[in-house]
Amino acid sequence: MTSPTFAKDFVFGAATSSYQIEGAWNEDGKGESIWDRFAHAPGTIEDGATGDVACDHVRRYREDIELMATLGLDAYRFSVSWPRVLPRGIGPANEAGLAFYDRLVDALLEAGIRPFVTLYHWDLPQALQDRGGWPRRETADAFCEYAATMGRRLGDRVKDWTTVNEPFVSAAIGHFEGRHAPGHRDERETLATTHHLLLAHGGAVAILRDVVPDARIGIVNVHQPIHPASDSEHDQVAASETDGLLNRTFLDPLVGRGYPEVVPYDRSVLHSFVRDGDLERIAAPLDFLGVNYYTRRIERSTAVPEERNAPRTRFERPGRTEMGWEVYPEGLFETFERLHGDYGFPSYYITENGAAYPDTPDASGRIHDPKRIDYHRLHLEQAARIVSAGIPLCGYFAWSLLDNFEWSFGFTKRFGLIYVDFESGRRRPKDSFSWYREVIGRRSLGGDAAV
Ligand code: FCB
Repeated sequence: MTSPTFAKDFVFGAATSSYQIEGAWNEDGKGESIWDRFAHAPGTIEDGATGDVACDHVRRYREDIELMATLGLDAYRFSVSWPRVLPRGIGPANEAGLAFYDRLVDALLEAGIRPFVTLYHWDLPQALQDRGGWPRRETADAFCEYAATMGRRLGDRVKDWTTVNEPFVSAAIGHFEGRHAPGHRDERETLATTHHLLLAHGGAVAILRDVVPDARIGIVNVHQPIHPASDSEHDQVAASETDGLLNRTFLDPLVGRGYPEVVPYDRSVLHSFVRDGDLERIAAPLDFLGVNYYTRRIERSTAVPEERNAPRTRFERPGRTEMGWEVYPEGLFETFERLHGDYGFPSYYITENGAAYPDTPDASGRIHDPKRIDYHRLHLEQAARIVSAGIPLCGYFAWSLLDNFEWSFGFTKRFGLIYVDFESGRRRPKDSFSWYREVIGRRSLGGDAAV
């Protein structure tokens, strides 16, 4: 069987986000973010870690770009820390913060690496949280001003923009489950946040179109197939509702269909935040959809009395990552078939895909991570299948370039192609780095692929 190959213009990238790697949390005029505040609170992060230093990327970005160049990346997806450039969220900009992103973008371009900028990867300025955060509509307006600031500053050099990363996670884990900043548990806030994040996205698209006329613009969603645990009607309903919550709430409005009907939350509450013109604004046409894909979900209804104590999510296959996530590569194909069939976005990127496994350097300091290599290989095989099926998938970003601060798990979960010693900051490319470099170099998965 021939191994899958990728066209020359298929974009091979890697991704990171500001709070997870940058450090320098209170330096050079940066304002506090909700993640600074949250991580500093006792008991929020598994190992008590914070992103105060993280990968120290603000100081080490040149070294990181050298590593990206060695890897042969076509593109690098990173996010801008909103409070680094606008310490209070609105109002005067912090020149030192803007200058950091200038240097980063210039160094990427010098290395021949295309910058993909994400405007919001969860680190809201704390000053805006103090005024009510995402549940407050004005935060979406503030985001639009911030988008304009960044477009004006970087738009001459950055042409690939994404607005918001995983609005589902920001709303649900930050405002309903409380495991992410700002650590709230409130359904009303969650639904207000959902709408305001999408409103912020739509507003920012319009502004970026204006400020950067030749920009290519998208949003980044996390998507998963939601499979019922059985044929029972209860499980099927549970699966459709979860699909409504996790996938359709963040897709239907993008294409002008408004919010979906089959959902597990009270729609009237969500609709109470919608004003005239909002849905049109959210449906601003996009150039691409960014898809973060890690696993699928199996949904079991809690409405079946004898199964009430069974876990809602059941994993049926042996392969799991250290996050406990099932390795389910065929779900990537299923996701894209559905996305393209039901929504038909003009193009797509896989903006994140990767796996955490425990990595330990051997006696010679090398990190052998065959499971991570398998994970990426299996998903890239599916990416090739997606392209062969005629779906305009333009690129793949590995999550992550570096081991980093994995939110509420702190430094206990390593996703990087590059190992980071969080004591010294030292970087060591793992075996997966060498493997990915070869894949990018020959634009093929090599002889051992299974497609
Ligand atoms: C995604 C996030 C990213 C990282 C990966 C593992 O949900 O966008 O920051 O935490 O999961």
